[in-house]
Amino acid sequence: MTTNLSILNNSQIQDHLKNHSLKIAVVGIGRIGLPTALCVANSGLETIGIDINKNLVDMVNSKDYPLKDEPEFDKIFDNVISQKKLSATTDINEAIPKCDVIILSLPTPMNNQNIPDYDALLTVGKSLNKLLSNGQIVIVESTVEPGFIENELLQSIEGSNKSLKSGTDFHLAVCPETANPGEIMKDFQNLPRLVGSIDENISPVVSLLYTHVFGVELIQMPNCKTANAVKLTTNVFRDINIAFVNELALLFEKLGIDTHTVIDAAKRKYNFQPHFPGPGVGGPCLPVNSYQYLNSSKKFNTNFLKIVQEARKINESMPQHTVDLLTDAFNESEKSLDNSTVTLLGVSYKPNVHDIQIAPSEEIIKLLLKKNAKLKIFDPFFTSETVFGHNTEKSLSDAMINSDAIVIITGHKEFDDLSLENISTSMNKPILVDCTGKINPIEAKSQGIIFKGIGRGGI
Ligand SMILES: NC(=O)c1ccc[n+]([C@@H]2O[C@H](COP(=O)([O-])OP(=O)(O)OC[C@H]3O[C@@H](n4cnc5c(N)ncnc54)[C@H](O)[C@@H]3O)[C@@H](O)[C@H]2O)c1
Repeated sequence: MTTNLSILNNSQIQDHLKNHSLKIAVVGIGRIGLPTALCVANSGLETIGIDINKNLVDMVNSKDYPLKDEPEFDKIFDNVISQKKLSATTDINEAIPKCDVIILSLPTPMNNQNIPDYDALLTVGKSLNKLLSNGQIVIVESTVEPGFIENELLQSIEGSNKSLKSGTDFHLAVCPETANPGEIMKDFQNLPRLVGSIDENISPVVSLLYTHVFGVELIQMPNCKTANAVKLTTNVFRDINIAFVNELALLFEKLGIDTHTVIDAAKRKYNFQPHFPGPGVGGPCLPVNSYQYLNSSKKFNTNFLKIVQEARKINESMPQHTVDLLTDAFNESEKSLDNSTVTLLGVSYKPNVHDIQIAPSEEIIKLLLKKNAKLKIFDPFFTSETVFGHNTEKSLSDAMINSDAIVIITGHKEFDDLSLENISTSMNKPILVDCTGKINPIEAKSQGIIFKGIGRGGI
């Protein structure tokens, strides 16, 4: 029998947390769900990770830590698995009835028309309809549009014939996840969390649980949709600001101004927040979150959020701009891009993570293939494998052999020490395009390299 936390007072709940007498399910143990499950288990609570990916479940159960690029969790993983605090299963029907709290960390991607896809949450919601009882608490950490929890998800859990009653059979709450891949532990330990719930007495219960697990500040939201709006707002703010600096970068290239110099000086003013130009904005969050807001606004048949639409267009045009810079460099060198070998450094959507979701590199690759370039790809997170239909090189030096031009797409730390001298001496009429701002244009030029950088005017 599970513990109905909604009818207990704070001190009874605290006792359960202290005595580790609660069982928590985390449904979806991917990039965010697994670190969450690890923290829950590390706080002493028995935790079951539920996932449809059998390989992932088998890895967890066989003590093989799957998130190699996420620092600091490997030790926790070893501890909680050996203490049997964490296990994983594909069997949701068996696991859910044993758990007092169910955390949903399911993917919320978009389809190829940029329409948000909430299938995973709705499918699990339907399953929960057959499984929940006794006031179990369901907490959604996934990023969704404001209103989705109160409407679509609630209906899918209650069932069309309302066979389950929210507020008695189960309770629904949100605690949107805001951690940044590659720095999840740091964010888990420092960022405040937002809590909202359908029944107002549930947010404080969720807060007690999250305080026990993460020890961070909990910000009480008036409802679920406000919490979801805060999460979207922080990410869409970034998408818009990156679009702004990308447009500035295009202008500054024409005006002969260096964008990075401008941003470096501008950030000395207390109310300027630096954002940086680049080859586009990818990953599972920023582009999707902008389209989630645009989807919300479409429902009202209005022209709200034009700025978000424009930001998306600008950020989605940056792969083409990258290829244009490369084409300009080839023209300057009097070599032809057609049939030349171009080395692409970095395919991840951002530095230092093993993740290519919605990565701008995919579009850059497509555009270069249309121009009949031959590609060599190196990414320290994807060596000797196939990415976007291409084999990747096993080392940086392999990637540089017989290359006519280099494009740094992702600013992985492995590219910090790229030797300009080496590039200069190993290539005939060396060409370097930098999307990351890592390369000093003056140094590149002084090595005789034909250099182009996004936003690097005035060189
Ligand atoms: N990755 C990020 O940067 C990040 C940051 C903050 C918030 N988020 C949000 O967190 C949520 C999860 O994102 P993620 O990056 O961890 O996704 P992910 O794809 O890494 O992990 C999702 C997991 O859910 C599993 N899954 C899919 N359908 C399932 C089902 N029906 N039943 C059980 N398991 C299922 C998948 O197999 C996968 O392991 C999303 O809403 C995302 O927007 C992501």
